[in-house]
Amino acid sequence: MSDNKVILNYDGKSFEYPIVESTIGDRGIDISKLRDQTGLITLDLGYKNTGATISNITYLDGDNGELYYRGYPIEQIAEKSSFTEVMYLLLNDDLPTTEQFAGFEKGIKQYNFVADEMKRLIDVFPRSAHPMGVLSALTSALIAFNPKAVDVRSKEDMDHAAEMLIAKFSHLCAWTYRKKMGLSINHGDDSLNYVENFYKMCFRRPNQEFHLDSTVVNALDKLLILHADHEQNCSTSTVRMVGSAHTGLFASVSAGISALWGPLHGGANQAVIEMLEMIEKDGGDVAKYVEKAKNKDDDFRLMGFGHRVYKNFDPRARIIKKAADDIFAALGIEDKALDIALQLEKVALEDEYFIERKLYPNVDFYSGIIYRALGIPTEMFTVMFALGRLPGWISQWKEMRLHNDPIGRPRQVYQGATKRDYVDMSAR
Ligand code: ACO
Repeated sequence: MSDNKVILNYDGKSFEYPIVESTIGDRGIDISKLRDQTGLITLDLGYKNTGATISNITYLDGDNGELYYRGYPIEQIAEKSSFTEVMYLLLNDDLPTTEQFAGFEKGIKQYNFVADEMKRLIDVFPRSAHPMGVLSALTSALIAFNPKAVDVRSKEDMDHAAEMLIAKFSHLCAWTYRKKMGLSINHGDDSLNYVENFYKMCFRRPNQEFHLDSTVVNALDKLLILHADHEQNCSTSTVRMVGSAHTGLFASVSAGISALWGPLHGGANQAVIEMLEMIEKDGGDVAKYVEKAKNKDDDFRLMGFGHRVYKNFDPRARIIKKAADDIFAALGIEDKALDIALQLEKVALEDEYFIERKLYPNVDFYSGIIYRALGIPTEMFTVMFALGRLPGWISQWKEMRLHNDPIGRPRQVYQGATKRDYVDMSAR
């Protein structure tokens, strides 16, 4: 290997593959000619070493626990910015000026409602339906009511579709919550900012005067910022992959919602609370469950611990832990499951097994316990994550289309049967 190329010796021949430079972080080996030249493909289960694209949006360094949105460290963004500003930042190259910000907010507000017929769709779901399934279905259904946003090609049309989806998606998230709670559904209120508007659509009771609790709104804003993008994770890669077939934005995001639903991804925040409740029901013996997680013959894992990329501390977890402490103090919450969470955090952080494997609490460990403290039903947690991740999905989709990335189509190493003749059923 020299500085800017990798040399592969194979079958008596030598092949050179150029290095693709980065501004920071992993550089890539461009192997686009590998198969044509050698007849070989790469095999990388779970894509642990595979760069699927070149991106300018989000950078994360798992070893040093760093996360930047468009170059701005997450710590500064979480402290100084707002979710609406972060949406602008991800969708564009830089932070907005006052005028750009006002224009962006105005663009979103013009779509601050959802077609009334959509209410009938949500009515037909049973109340027991998982909100992520409902959200994915409603996001796809939005296409029928906004057909012009489906086949967008120019940057301007993409930005327009983004504003539309951002506005309407907050309704769908709030509606799934209202459905779960058996409450009538609300439309948006243009006098509020994005997060306040979402909060009101969720929590306004028909029998009470509405009060905006600033502690809760600030915590929500922070949680949404922390989830806004995380480069090429499972759901984002899904959105990009689906979109690479030139599928529309809403349908691509609907697929991303399904990917996020899984307990190894966004569903982890729900799984954290279910695990805490299980430990509580079983007598609250935290040490027993830590032992179970360490036992290789037991498939139990401590949910909310570990991360595919962060092999040091998750920087978002540090910020969110502080938000969790503030909320518990402000709301004066006492909860057995939350006590168990804190014990678990302590035991695991001091245990050799977890230290050796660099398994720290991830962002979902704390987001789950904050949502619970806010009284949000467990099954809604991943919906909250989806609302936060929406600007990331849209920005990545837009980047992929503007860069004209080719359709995503991996190859495989086939190990199945070789050619054989069909045998008639009577002769098998
Ligand atoms: N509890 C106990 N052991 C664990 C855990 C855990 N939560 N996570 C990993 N390990 C162990 C594995 O058993 C393995 O041990 P070994 O080396 O002795 O075989 C080692 O740590 C490495 O684990 P991998 O599964 O190879 O790590 P990977 O990077 O592939 O997985 C993942 C990361 C999926 C997040 C994993 O840590 C996990 O399942 N965590 C629980 C689920 C969770 O919290 N997911 C949320 C992720 S954050 C997000 O999506 C926003």
